[in-house]
Amino acid sequence: MSLTIGVDIGGTKVLGGIVGPDGEVLAQTRRPTPAYDPAGTLIMICDVISELLAVQKVDAIGIGAAGWIDAARSTIMYAPNLAWRDEPLRDHIASRFNVPVVVENDANVAAWAEFRFGAAREASESMVLYTVGTGIGSGIVLGGNLVRGAFGVAAELGHTRAVPDGLVCGCGRRGCLEQYASGSALVRYARATAMEAPDKAEYLLSLANGLPEAITGPMVTTAGKAGDPAATAAFERIGYWLGNSMADVVQILDPQLIVIGGGVIDAGDLLMVPAETSFRDALEARGQLPVAGVRAAQMGNLAGVVGAADLARR
Ligand code: BGC
Ligand code: NA
Ligand code: ZN
Repeated sequence: MSLTIGVDIGGTKVLGGIVGPDGEVLAQTRRPTPAYDPAGTLIMICDVISELLAVQKVDAIGIGAAGWIDAARSTIMYAPNLAWRDEPLRDHIASRFNVPVVVENDANVAAWAEFRFGAAREASESMVLYTVGTGIGSGIVLGGNLVRGAFGVAAELGHTRAVPDGLVCGCGRRGCLEQYASGSALVRYARATAMEAPDKAEYLLSLANGLPEAITGPMVTTAGKAGDPAATAAFERIGYWLGNSMADVVQILDPQLIVIGGGVIDAGDLLMVPAETSFRDALEARGQLPVAGVRAAQMGNLAGVVGAADLARR
């Protein structure tokens, strides 16, 4: 049986697993991601891999990283929300472990996992995934393959322009979707309401010891599930922007399915309902033409590990 390792480098943790050919995770381990420290992050990645290799030899290693990876799937050219700049990650790891390594965008690997084993497994040829977290990532599968683009950086839907001349983004441009529909935007909206209209955020503020600036994403989800008005309104806003972007994607790609994942999807219908509503509204005048279904992701926080491992096998 061919086994591979998948490693998912997130903003808070480096998660790794040994994965079998049907996407089954046979062992897993994690380390914290040191903030703004590429050298320290590399050490954590190597620790995770060493620990897994001590359990089991593997045929290949796949790494999912939040950034813009070159077409050779080797170097992280730039990361809008992390400190990586021209980081030759594949070569560092391959020389250390003497096993073939591929590096791929974090959202691309998650999309691949959902397409092969998760929410889009019955889609035969196309799907688009949005991951809603600190940033907005995306992955596009067309004709059964990931779309990587001429230079490796296709499928950056988070950096499509939602608002001309809008908010400045970590990528340097203005008005990117990521500034309006990410988990960071969710928290920003909730904090603003808690500051301006604390009566609408009583429960949310109680979770944050009364301090608007202490509100976190998981608190907004907890409060939203309890019906806190500031929290539900924040989900409605990110869902509004997401649904509009999804409608643009339908006009460009006409995929079989759109899947929404990332940490924020823990909120379930709090996000899915407004996203689907604005998606349908934006496409209404199209009439009864067939249109992509919209699903919540199913692979949870193992999507990146499983997708990276499966891509490494190919
Ligand atoms: C980056 C993507 C990444 C996403 C999620 C975005 O800001 O541009 O490459 O996939 O965040 O981590
Ligand atoms: Na991507
Ligand atoms: Zn951007």
